[in-house]
Amino acid sequence: MCGIFGFTTENAKNAGEVLIDGLSSLEYRGYDSAGIFTPESGAVKAVGPASHLKRKMPAGFFGRSGIAHLRWATHGEPTEENAHPHTDCEGEVWLVHNGIVENFKELKTKLAAAGHTFASQTDTEIIAHLVEEHLKTEPDFAKAAIAAINEIRGTYGIAMQYRADPSKIVVARMGSPVVIGIGEHERFVASDPSPILRHTRDVVYLEDGEVAILTPESHEIYKLHGAPVERAAERIEWDAAAAQRGGYEHFMLKEIMEEADAVRNTSLGRLIEKEGMVKLGGLESVEEKLKQVKRIILVACGTASYAALAGEYMIEEHARIPVEVDIASEFRYRTPVINDDTAVVAVSQSGETLDTLEAIREGKRRGALTLGIVNAVGSTIARETDAGVYLHAGPEISVASTKAYVSQLTALALFTLFLGRQRGVSIEEGRVIAEALKALPERIEEIYKRTKDIQRIAKKYADARDFLFIGRKYNLATAFEGALKLKETSYVHAEGCGAGEMKHGHLAMIDEHFPTVAIAPSDSVYEKTASNIQEIRTRKGPVIAIATDGNEEIKELANDVMYIPKTIDMLTPILAVVPLHLFAYYFARQKGINVDRPRNLAKSVTVE
Ligand code: G6P
Repeated sequence: MCGIFGFTTENAKNAGEVLIDGLSSLEYRGYDSAGIFTPESGAVKAVGPASHLKRKMPAGFFGRSGIAHLRWATHGEPTEENAHPHTDCEGEVWLVHNGIVENFKELKTKLAAAGHTFASQTDTEIIAHLVEEHLKTEPDFAKAAIAAINEIRGTYGIAMQYRADPSKIVVARMGSPVVIGIGEHERFVASDPSPILRHTRDVVYLEDGEVAILTPESHEIYKLHGAPVERAAERIEWDAAAAQRGGYEHFMLKEIMEEADAVRNTSLGRLIEKEGMVKLGGLESVEEKLKQVKRIILVACGTASYAALAGEYMIEEHARIPVEVDIASEFRYRTPVINDDTAVVAVSQSGETLDTLEAIREGKRRGALTLGIVNAVGSTIARETDAGVYLHAGPEISVASTKAYVSQLTALALFTLFLGRQRGVSIEEGRVIAEALKALPERIEEIYKRTKDIQRIAKKYADARDFLFIGRKYNLATAFEGALKLKETSYVHAEGCGAGEMKHGHLAMIDEHFPTVAIAPSDSVYEKTASNIQEIRTRKGPVIAIATDGNEEIKELANDVMYIPKTIDMLTPILAVVPLHLFAYYFARQKGINVDRPRNLAKSVTVE
């Protein structure tokens, strides 16, 4: 996830100030490098957040138009060369891009053969060269730009300029948000309304597959293939701070509502459904080594360790490799047995958690292959591991991790399929997994439609001081994660427990004041979990069940039910956790707690 911003105006402005100001309200979308361009004053880029760029800005950076970008790296390290805006061979076409060009390798090969040379490792730069190529036969900048956009596959929110036509900005959207601001004799473009609101409240949202040509006096919208689009402007009533959260009251809720996109982006361009395969570019260099691996140790902390637990079950069931999960802080000190046919895999959102990093270093010292399943591109874990799989979930701001968790589960499912196909998983089995992965984002969107029910259930249990979460097999992890989220955000006592293990202790706590959340999708262990629910009801414990659509019987067993759509067993934790994240959010909100900043906790724990 990155942030884009741009403007074109009749009124003279200090372009540098306007652009940097715009970027500062998009900071939550990325912060590993920033850059701006104006046709009159050129480009400036810097590694780090917008404040670093500001320090580098020459005085009097003028212009009546310009584009700006905050980067959250996907292709290429977060360096100045890879920072946007990117340009063509002659420095004439400039653009900023939020998204991923999936067919960038084939386009790059074609452009290189036509004589283009590239200054960065990014997929984005390809687009500038493509426009340059089209300008050879189509002198109209907007037409050449649209022709180039028609050639790219993937996701994008783009804003593009041409030195020879400086008042024009061509914008396009496919899967990444783009909003146009309409001022008096000026137009703006951004990834969300927050940087536009200080200039105007009138906006038009671009839809997927649309392009727009902005000048100070006009904004013409077209379908990618050319048909014009008429769309009236909307007036935004929120304030700028709320706009940064996309209108949500908290980042936590915004990020839960981004879980469908996070899963989508983790799988994007990686699934080859027809062949029942995945393509994980980051593992190419260690593909042969991975075939020799005899044992995998997943190391992680907090929420990431629960994703790892579900990952252990996925890999063992489908790829048949022995896996264990180690809490990173334990792994470091318990002298584990590691040798050169062991792979130590770190699972981490930030890529900076000190214990996880040290676990990887320990693995390396003992000769293991080290891998990272990490969200933050260029983070220390990403750099120090031999290879890895990026999550592409976009920046996560709320301390309690939500969208990174579903992305971690998705990446572990991709990893499972990758390893499985190396070790005898059939095309048919691979296809079932790949197709189920592909369908997940829409299934999550189904759950969002049921938010009101979840909110109602959270309200019903508002006075509870203790919660038990039970789950089995793939959803043991969900039980731990559901309990952790409630503890972190509401400060109530919540415990996760294996449903079968409950009888060995936890059941003693149960009475009519101690509710249980039972994760009971219709999977291979459903019958077992259903009898555990029965045992709790017999002891007068209230039960909230997470169940699969169509399970009517559970309504008789549980006091309340949150339904999730159907998927294959191994992917149920990705769906089952969504209502639990929403439940934790709404439960905490009733207590008036600032869920984004729980007391005593930090987003990234870089101390022991
Ligand atoms: C902190 C965060 C958690 C996170 C854990 C691991 O405790 O509050 O949300 O799960 O660190 O962080 P990582 O960045 O390594 O995933």
